[in-house]
Amino acid sequence: MKVLVIGGGGREHAIVWKLAQSPKVDKIYCCPGNAGIAEHAECVDIDLRDFESLVDFVKYEWIDLTIVGPEDPLARGIVDVFEKNELKIMGPDSRASQLEASKVFAKEFMKRHGIPTAEYRVFTSYLHAEEYVRMKGAPIVIKADGLAAGKGVVVAKTVDEAIDALKKIMKDRVFGDAGDRVVVEECLQGEEASYLVFTDGETILPMASSQDHKRVYDNDEGPNTGGMGAYSPAPVVSADIEKDIMEKVMKPAIKGLNKEGIRYKGVLYAGLMINKGRPHVLEFNCRFGDPETQPLLTRLKSDLLEISLAIVEERLSRMTLQWRPEASVCVVAASGGYPGRYEKGKEIKGLDDVKKMNDVVVFHAGTSFQDGKIVTSGGRVLGVTALGTDIKEARDRAYSAIEKIHFEGMHYRKDIARRAIERSSN
Ligand code: AMP
Ligand code: GLY
Repeated sequence: MKVLVIGGGGREHAIVWKLAQSPKVDKIYCCPGNAGIAEHAECVDIDLRDFESLVDFVKYEWIDLTIVGPEDPLARGIVDVFEKNELKIMGPDSRASQLEASKVFAKEFMKRHGIPTAEYRVFTSYLHAEEYVRMKGAPIVIKADGLAAGKGVVVAKTVDEAIDALKKIMKDRVFGDAGDRVVVEECLQGEEASYLVFTDGETILPMASSQDHKRVYDNDEGPNTGGMGAYSPAPVVSADIEKDIMEKVMKPAIKGLNKEGIRYKGVLYAGLMINKGRPHVLEFNCRFGDPETQPLLTRLKSDLLEISLAIVEERLSRMTLQWRPEASVCVVAASGGYPGRYEKGKEIKGLDDVKKMNDVVVFHAGTSFQDGKIVTSGGRVLGVTALGTDIKEARDRAYSAIEKIHFEGMHYRKDIARRAIERSSN
């Protein structure tokens, strides 16, 4: 079979790497891909907003299945266009993707279906929002309604910080239309975890639990990023909590969507805050997480192509997922200055040394070829991912691998998975 993967980050490299192991996959294309992905896939350069050209390409190459990585094409309706052309594509359609693309839709949906989440109010008027923030006090969370590349959420420690965020979103309109409406919500305490499931709109197959590290510096300091590292499983998600997540979040979500006439097909990702053994939903994402996918897919034994086809063909009830018992840890190497401004084009050294290591895979995120060399081309550059008998062994392996890699300005967190290791040793 021929498969096209949409996207060009670490998540897509993990998807392509996993598909390449399927005996049923003959050829993989990736749009746009990156220097690491090019090892397994033919990278193609088609504008990801140009769905008609993508459809033409898929028809011309006789591609059997398309898998979508990022949220943007999903929210803009790539699945709707492919389905209209009777092409197989794995991901939710534009209506189902509202769960990620509109925070207001997600909050109201959760309220309608009794899914645990933070108390909130929605505002279209800056003055009313400011008044509410002053009345509630800090800490408080401000969220732009629409997609803002992960930058539309401010967890404000003071009222001034919250008002500053409201001004930026509603008056200066730094996220454009995404800031037409704002969600102001209660700040939840606890430990975060990511929980992803495969679903064909009826059957829900949970993946292993995982945890991301959103802040740029050690000890969760500094600004938010796309994610500086992740591990799986996440010990904070005990068997009891996992049951709660399925019963109180995932099943009501899929049932609720069905009731509203929306069949959700693809990966559903809940970003959760776990407090005193109870999960609350911080956000829904309508796709694989990045970097959670890197540890998740290195642990998944089952064939990703078969799972994806079963989702598209609505026969997931006949599948089960097999997982490797090992733990997996991914440490992200980022460009100097990220998540702020950074330079590109820095040569990456040491990749060949890491290739020789067992149970370590380097997923490329922002890399490209230049004069026959692999160079940086994005903020998050690599996700060095290792398996181990437990999280500690996986973490030690990932760090001994990343120490062999170098590019000018490279930085990474030194404390990925530390909390999980502390929790396991208590
Ligand atoms: P979101 O995009 O909604 O997941 O928000 C991004 C990050 O902001 C989350 O991963 C949390 O770290 C934080 N966050 C979002 N909502 C809340 C909340 N209600 N309470 C505390 N932290 C939050
Ligand atoms: N790891 C966070 C995300 O994928 O949104």
